[in-house]
Amino acid sequence: MPIPKFSIVILISGSGSNLQAIIDAAEKNTLPVEICAVISNRPDAKGLQRAARAGLRTEVVDHTQFNSREDFDASLQQCIDNVEPQLVVLAGFMRLLTDNFVDHYSGHMLNIHPSLLPNFKGLNTHARALAAFKEGSVTEHGASVHFVTAQLDGGPVIAQASVAIAADDTPDILATRVLGREHQLYPQIIGWFAEGRLRLQGNQVWLDEKALTSPVVLSANC
Ligand code: GAR
Repeated sequence: MPIPKFSIVILISGSGSNLQAIIDAAEKNTLPVEICAVISNRPDAKGLQRAARAGLRTEVVDHTQFNSREDFDASLQQCIDNVEPQLVVLAGFMRLLTDNFVDHYSGHMLNIHPSLLPNFKGLNTHARALAAFKEGSVTEHGASVHFVTAQLDGGPVIAQASVAIAADDTPDILATRVLGREHQLYPQIIGWFAEGRLRLQGNQVWLDEKALTSPVVLSANC
């Protein structure tokens, strides 16, 4: 009997280009996971079409149909737990999550954020990075993968990939460059988790049985 692959559920809200990078890596077998379901809080998310094209199970839990954040999160949790994944992957999932929901998946939920955390938590990260560059306070920008905790974009960072900022960048140009790095970064970190190399203990990230003292920095070529 073949050994079942490590199972993940991916949560999206929009385009799903990170989802696509994960699908591609899983199909090429460079990422040893099975994507059990793709769940969107928006019925019109383009990522749902990408998932369907890849033959994946798709679900919609539309946040506009719920009276409270708690009710939405409870329904989302039920939808995720129905497929019993080993890891929940937030890939452009643009919802604030309740503490109960986050606690339920503690140490088993990852997020990718388009900045070099702790810089630029929250929204509009590319415009804010560009403004900071023009003021001389940063020279680079990038993306971070972190464990999800109750603090918005504040969970322990596992790894980062950076890009240089150029004087003639616009937020859109910068976003495209960062997204390219996200597509390299996220499948790799998910792979580490799937291979049992990565874990969260308290607020500490462990990789290959060593406590990380700072995020792993992915080189430009990987
Ligand atoms: C990505 O840049 C991701 O880092 C960001 O949303 C985009 C989704 O793109 N996530 C956040 O801002 C979460 N705080 P995608 O739908 O094409 O993967």
